[in-house]
Amino acid sequence: MGKLKVGLIGGGGGGNFFGHVHKRAIAFDNSRELVAGALRSNPDEAMAAAQDYDVEGFTDYGALLEACQSGKLDLDYVTIVTPNHAHYAPAKAFLEAGIPVLCEKPITMTIAEAEDLQAIVEAKKVPFILAHTYTGHPMMMFAKELVRQGKIGDVRKVEAWYNQGWLATALEKEGLQQAEWRTDPAKTGISNCGGDIGTHAFVAATWVSGRSVSRVSARLNRFVEGRQLDDDFNVIAELDNGGTALITATQIAIGYKNDNGFRIYGSGGSLEWHQERAESLLVRTGEVDETYWIGANYSFLPNSVGSYLRVPSGHHEDFFAALANLHCTMERTILRSRGQEAPEPFDHPGVAEGVAGMRFVQAAVDSSAAQGAWTDL
Ligand SMILES: NC(=O)c1ccc[n+]([C@@H]2O[C@H](COP(=O)([O-])OP(=O)(O)OC[C@H]3O[C@@H](n4cnc5c(N)ncnc54)[C@H](O)[C@@H]3O)[C@@H](O)[C@H]2O)c1
Repeated sequence: MGKLKVGLIGGGGGGNFFGHVHKRAIAFDNSRELVAGALRSNPDEAMAAAQDYDVEGFTDYGALLEACQSGKLDLDYVTIVTPNHAHYAPAKAFLEAGIPVLCEKPITMTIAEAEDLQAIVEAKKVPFILAHTYTGHPMMMFAKELVRQGKIGDVRKVEAWYNQGWLATALEKEGLQQAEWRTDPAKTGISNCGGDIGTHAFVAATWVSGRSVSRVSARLNRFVEGRQLDDDFNVIAELDNGGTALITATQIAIGYKNDNGFRIYGSGGSLEWHQERAESLLVRTGEVDETYWIGANYSFLPNSVGSYLRVPSGHHEDFFAALANLHCTMERTILRSRGQEAPEPFDHPGVAEGVAGMRFVQAAVDSSAAQGAWTDL
């Protein structure tokens, strides 16, 4: 069986961040290969970046799609890793052409765009995965399984956080491209911190717990002078079962890098996970605390999680592996949709989580503007 052929939109050229991580994640299992890309917004730079990646280059996503539709290029799926404002148009175009999409978060700039993608995905039944990388960490997947199996009983309270310090000063004025577009409302959307990393905390709170958010009370802060959008994002949320979630994110916590994690308190126990120590999951059930430690072939892991492990125990499964797991879910989904043999794909975030994330950010922004008034999603 040949490798799945993948196209990349964005993520090329010097100075880009997450395109490089996707490139490695695509190649991780030797069952997928990056073959083509429209890698930058400038056509000449896009072609040069393709040469650098040693893939077939296209000046923009329209030319890439045209090559697929005219039969000159055969792609199994595309990965979109452009800044937020450039997710929707290519995602819509490829989904409408029936080509599966693995798209970066946050899904779009607005709720209406996200709902439009959801309608296409549901009508055409095209695979769509939202790249919340951390959901690919086997211990985060295992936490979701434990909640689903009832290990901690009914979910009562959730804390999910993402603390960073890199935007504690006006880095966007020093020419760092990642800081520039993230703080620019035209490219990032209505919220900087909330959209960029608040959505990771939101997905941790909802995807793992299996609960949705009904309404929020929020306070968004903008600590750095001259910045147009929030750099600190604090939400108290009501869950659909009456429970409570505290969902916070910040970019002004000096010294903090990627302090993302969650605690979930249920009627029969609690779970705790930290992205910076991603290989362990703490389960407290009262008398004895259990720490699960990751490793291949550990019998405590159900096959739904174990089948994603790659290295023997004691070695590190990490960021590239987590992102590779989302590509792996896309691969399994595509193969099974063609009647080919593949293990069952894990229930990784998709278009519904994308729409929920947009509604969450919009409600938080509205609530904060109304001095924390409770706001429905
Ligand atoms: N899932 C995660 O953990 C994670 C981590 C980092 C970034 N991201 C997401 O990935 C996306 C990119 O973030 P980044 O930090 O890599 O940004 P970046 O600025 O490093 O890279 C963006 C890339 O997109 C290219 N680009 C811009 N506009 C384009 C267009 N119209 N067509 C084609 N290419 C275009 C740029 O040239 C650049 O190569 C964002 O949506 C961000 O939220 C996700």
